Amino acid sequence: MPSILIVGASRGIGLGLVSQFASEGYRVHATTRTPGAPGKLGSIKGDIQIHGLEVRDDTQLDELAVNLENENLDILIHNAGIYEATRDVLMEVNAEAPIRTCERLIEQMNSGGRVVLMTSQLGARRGKDESLGNYGDSKAALNDRFREKAKDWSEQGISAVVMHPGWVRTDMGGENADISVVESTRGIFSFVESMNSSDHGRFVTWEGSDHPW
Ligand SMILES: NC(=O)c1ccc[n+]([C@@H]2O[C@H](COP(=O)([O-])OP(=O)(O)OC[C@H]3O[C@@H](n4cnc5c(N)ncnc54)[C@H](OP(=O)(O)O)[C@@H]3O)[C@@H](O)[C@H]2O)c1
Repeated sequence: MPSILIVGASRGIGLGLVSQFASEGYRVHATTRTPGAPGKLGSIKGDIQIHGLEVRDDTQLDELAVNLENENLDILIHNAGIYEATRDVLMEVNAEAPIRTCERLIEQMNSGGRVVLMTSQLGARRGKDESLGNYGDSKAALNDRFREKAKDWSEQGISAVVMHPGWVRTDMGGENADISVVESTRGIFSFVESMNSSDHGRFVTWEGSDHPW
């Protein structure tokens, strides 16, 4: 069966993605900062391996890479993110960590590997020069770094996108958000299943349509 790594899977969209891919028969590798107390992640049925990862910790990233060495990953979704923190921490978690994680892991993915980095509509500059706020700026920085790396990654046989997952009812999105976790993760699943090299470099929504940069 195909295999997927979901980074940031303890709750919200990441937890929903584990459930969605596991129910479709995937072998799922899921990361949490608290592998010893996985909570809801520990009760999802399916072929699920739980790993520890604080995305700012390079030692933990190296350990994860070693543990996944023979796992032939087909898909990597970097979902971990934060909304409220200092500007520096937002940059570390939302902009720097996803790129570092991919750089470390894509060399051990299967040929034709697919990568999704979770960004946000709030990181779309739409031609503006002014600040988008600390969170928006961190996601805009992720989008910029993604575009800098995209050529290298495609030369390594990887198809990668940045994705807005919708405004989703999670701890981050809040209870008044537009869509449920299940709606978002079904859309993401359907896009990722059909994703190929023609999608490489896109900024897409959870429904697979183009999002303005
Ligand atoms: N919800 C929305 O409406 C929305 C809209 C646009 C974009 N997004 C993006 O979608 C992604 C998921 O959002 P969500 O709504 O599911 O958020 P959430 O409910 O707040 O969950 C965030 C996830 O990221 C993990 N995480 C945070 N910091 C981490 C770190 N330093 N190391 C490892 N894991 C870390 C959290 O783990 P812990 O449980 O350990 O904290 C949790 O699993 C984020 O990248 C977010 O920016 C969300």
